[in-house]
Formats: sequence, C-alpha cells, structure tokens
Amino acid sequence: MRRSFFFVAAGVTALVTCSPVDPSELAPLSRRADTSCTAAADGFASLNGGTTGGAGGTVVTVSTQADLEKYAKASGKYIIKVKGKITISPKGTEIPISSDKTIHGLGATGEIFEGGFGLSSGVKNVIIRNLKIGNTYDGDPDGKTHDWDGIQADTANNIWVDHCIFERGADGLIDSRKDTNYLTVSNTIFRHHNKAFGIGWTDNVVAQITLHHSWFQNTTQRNPSADNIKYAHLYNNYLTDVTSYGHYARGKTAMRMENVYFKSTKNPVTRDDTATLAASGNTYSGTSGTIAGNSGTVFKATDYYKYTLDATANVPSIVQAEAGPKASICPS
Ligand SMILES: *[C@@H]1O[C@H](CO)[C@@H](O)[C@H](O)[C@H]1NC(C)=O
Repeated sequence: MRRSFFFVAAGVTALVTCSPVDPSELAPLSRRADTSCTAAADGFASLNGGTTGGAGGTVVTVSTQADLEKYAKASGKYIIKVKGKITISPKGTEIPISSDKTIHGLGATGEIFEGGFGLSSGVKNVIIRNLKIGNTYDGDPDGKTHDWDGIQADTANNIWVDHCIFERGADGLIDSRKDTNYLTVSNTIFRHHNKAFGIGWTDNVVAQITLHHSWFQNTTQRNPSADNIKYAHLYNNYLTDVTSYGHYARGKTAMRMENVYFKSTKNPVTRDDTATLAASGNTYSGTSGTIAGNSGTVFKATDYYKYTLDATANVPSIVQAEAGPKASICPS
C-alpha cells in the first residue's frame, strides 16, 4: 500500500492520499511534530530521570550573544528562546551550557552562526532544539586547525538534540565525547561537512544513545561513528550523498539499526570485528561498498523505552518534511 503524507504547520493533520486515514498511523505523526516548548526527550535521553531541560524554570528570549551566554551558564532552570540569527564572536566559540537548560529557536529562524555549544563534565539535563548551528568552516576539511564543534559534550548526561540543522562546521558537527550518556538526537539534519557526528573518545563502554529520523546529507564520514557505545539505537534515519561511510559500529559498540534509508551512500553499514550489530529493514538505493553483516546478540530497544518505527519506504518523505527547524515548534 503506497501512501503519501503531507504535513501542516500545526503538525496534527496528515493528508493521506490513495486510502482512508488509519488512526493508528496518526499517533506517531503528531508525536514527532510536538509543538510544545516544554516537550521532553524520547529514546535513551528519557531514562536516568528523563531530559526536560529548563521546563518549569524561568523563560527568557535572547537575541544577542551576551544574553545567550549569560543565561546558558546561569545556575537553575531556564528556557532560553533564541530570536533570529546570533553571530558568535570570536568565530568558533562553543558557548558553555550548564545543567537544566532548554535552548530553542523561536519560529524557524533561530540560528547560532559561526559558533556552537559546549557541555562540560557533570552537566546534566540539556535540550537543544529547533536551531541552525554551524558555519564555522575554516578552510581545513580535516578539522585539525580548530577544534570548533557544533556541540561538544564531554561526560555530560541527559541531552536531547531535536529539530536542528548542523552545517559547514570546522571540526565535528556533534562530538559526543568521553562518557557522555543518555543522548537522543532526533529530527536533525547534518549537512555539507566532513566529520558529521562522532560518539566515543573513551575506553569505557557505558554510553546509551538514540538517533532517529535524522538526515545526513552531503557529508563524508561519522554518520555517525559510534565507538565503544553500550547501546546505540539508530532507526528511521535518511542518508544521502555520503561519500566515505554511513552508520558505523566501532570498537565494542552494540548497535541496533532499524529501517534506515541509505541513498547514494558509500559503505552504508560498517562494523568492527569487536562490535555487535543487529540491522533490519534497511533500504539501500544506489549505494556501494560495505554492508556489514549482523553479528552477536544485541539489546532490544523495547526493553528500555517505547518508540514507533516508520516503514522504511516512508522515511525519505517523512524526514525531508519534518527534520530541521520548523516554525510550528515553539512558535512564541
Ligand atoms: C557538500 O559539502 C562540501 C563540504 O563537505 C561543501 O564544500 C559543498 O559545497 C557541499 N555541496 C553543496 C551542494 O552544498
């Protein structure tokens, strides 16, 4: 049965062609298009007490770097609404975020231009949502000249990145490092960059991460590279024009991968001999190179949280329509 979906701003209505609406298909659509400014994380970020950011705290709107920095590092709960494009100076600065913060773009135009965010050790409960982040590119595609990331997290806990665009960075678009744990990245676009999303930089096998409904578009490597991850759950992602490798289970990672759509991607699925992998339902369209086989016994994500898997054939249209900042998410 072929259906096409059309999403409206409020996110609650789906126009279905060819067949009547099946109510069981509406619930996950409205869930993904949650317009609440205080939505809480799903996936592994929903464990360990949950990820609610600044919900229940002081609400502020910022349009300057000085105000953004002031509230991002303040102690206590804050919901920080970013109004319009903030150009960060000096270029590449990773603005430090302390615990219990939600930082989200107002409407669809919130942008952290030529900068990013940093979460240091011990920081907990942070939501970054509905923002464009990046454009720190410095002419060195290997990212060796400046360690400027879109988000760098070092042993931080409970982080939810949702409906963001990361583009044209200097080093990593997201570097989730050391023992950063309980991370969910959803509905997010990584584009026009070499090293998109690295997870690891530790010998400890503790991190639990979820990545879903995200789009890697015209990227080279780390889409993502998940190194020594206890549980990596990747589902319903969309990869297009990826030139080095796609989803990579590296080191001692245990990876469950479901219904991912790989298009024009080189080496879509890679697994080190030391990693375990259970991949199912993927589509490979115009791909070349390695599609690693499954190996070992892998955790079941349903033992940890509830989620709704979309049919792989619908992933391109759903992700293209919904990923990235939307005017309907926290409009005021
Ligand atoms: C693709 O990404 C590269 C950087 O990796 C960039 O230089 C190029 O402009 C991007 N292509 C498009 C069409 O944006």
